[in-house]
Amino acid sequence: MNNQLGNQPREQWGSRLGFILAAMGSAVGLGNIWRFSYVTGENGGAAFLIIYFLCIILIGIPILMAEFTIGRRAQSDVVGSFQTLAPRKPWVIGGFIGVASAFIILSFYGVIAGWTLFYFTNYLTGTLWSAPSEGYGAYFDTFITHPTYPIIWQFIFMGLTIAVVLIGVKNGIEKTNKILMPILAVLLIVLAGYSLTLGGAKEGLLFLFSPDWSAFKNPEVYLAGLGQAFFSLSLGMGALITYGSYLSKEEKLPGAAYSVASLDTLFAVIAGIMIFPAVFAFGIEPGYGAGLAFVTLPDIFDSIALGGLVGLAFFFLLVAAGLSSAVSLLEVAVAYFIRRFSWSRRFATIVIGSIIFLLGIPSSLGLGAWSHITIFNKSILDSMDFLASNIFLPIGGLIIALFVGWGWNKSEAMKESDFGDTFIGHLWIFILRFIAPIAIVLIFLSAIGLF
Ligand code: PHE
Repeated sequence: MNNQLGNQPREQWGSRLGFILAAMGSAVGLGNIWRFSYVTGENGGAAFLIIYFLCIILIGIPILMAEFTIGRRAQSDVVGSFQTLAPRKPWVIGGFIGVASAFIILSFYGVIAGWTLFYFTNYLTGTLWSAPSEGYGAYFDTFITHPTYPIIWQFIFMGLTIAVVLIGVKNGIEKTNKILMPILAVLLIVLAGYSLTLGGAKEGLLFLFSPDWSAFKNPEVYLAGLGQAFFSLSLGMGALITYGSYLSKEEKLPGAAYSVASLDTLFAVIAGIMIFPAVFAFGIEPGYGAGLAFVTLPDIFDSIALGGLVGLAFFFLLVAAGLSSAVSLLEVAVAYFIRRFSWSRRFATIVIGSIIFLLGIPSSLGLGAWSHITIFNKSILDSMDFLASNIFLPIGGLIIALFVGWGWNKSEAMKESDFGDTFIGHLWIFILRFIAPIAIVLIFLSAIGLF
């Protein structure tokens, strides 16, 4: 039976709300705050934002629906899902790319999440309540270039991720963010409102929302927008296939997909409204790089009376948001190994989690002791991120789109998606067949200068 894992029955979500919250927990994470702000900053702001939105609407949401549909129908992990729905066909390559992406992304995600954990503890002890004598920027640099501290925090974060996945999808994953995500949303909105009073509102908002049209000529901005859309929606690697597979047949998928995509995008935009006015108010470069949020946020908290408490709450919630995303990454690999090798959940989680921790160490060292090692002029961490987010995820997404569009019977796909034989259902298949694949391929071709 394909809905059994060895002798253990497959898990199921406790409720419909539980599934949506878990999918949202996967989507909303460091990608919305840390990655979104620095990639937007590096790619010039508004033009990037428009491309990112277009990628979400034209490519992201249809593929998100494809992932939910595949997962719920096949009731298996990424690899198993392709094998169940299309036995002995090459589509399964998409599944293997997904498992590989889980390893790569979580390896560096654990490093960044370790930084947030470090900041959280610094707010707990009061160290960051006022600016260190060398300034927040230098403080951040000293920390991330240290040969061992960031690795210790990465280790602790990975330990937490392993613990949650061990408890299993229902108790561990479903409950983690039920309360914390709404609190994070409220805090972000309040901080965004506050940030607008800091004196950089006009510049910040212009940067975010008023495009510099010449930026549209730069092919890198398209690839960056595509990669950010995939990364932020947890798309293209089967995280949402895996989560969809713990779903029973009664759920309605389209509503869940729209809610996840809009909430995720809203989080990113609000985070942008929180960060960019402050970036200009405090005279930070928008293209500062991966540390942008880690340098800007403490400045914001520093300017608030008792802002240390706000910083404490903020980094606590950010750790939690990162944790629910990391859990979905680890779950992709763990679900595969449990089924494929009949491992117990406990064994699979600990072994895979430890391997991923080890894989992340070079990313961390690459910012300090190993900074002389670069790949195409990028640090190890940036290269891993680029490879996974801008290449693997879009290729995985391309395979998923083509599979549902061409590899699967059209009326069955429409029925399984809950769209049924409706206009939207046909439009969805049309996008998966033509629009999304062509857009992804064109963006790739332009990035390598062929279009
Ligand atoms: N979407 C998550 C975030 O924004 C990261 C993630 C990517 C999670 C891919 C799962 C799969 O932080």
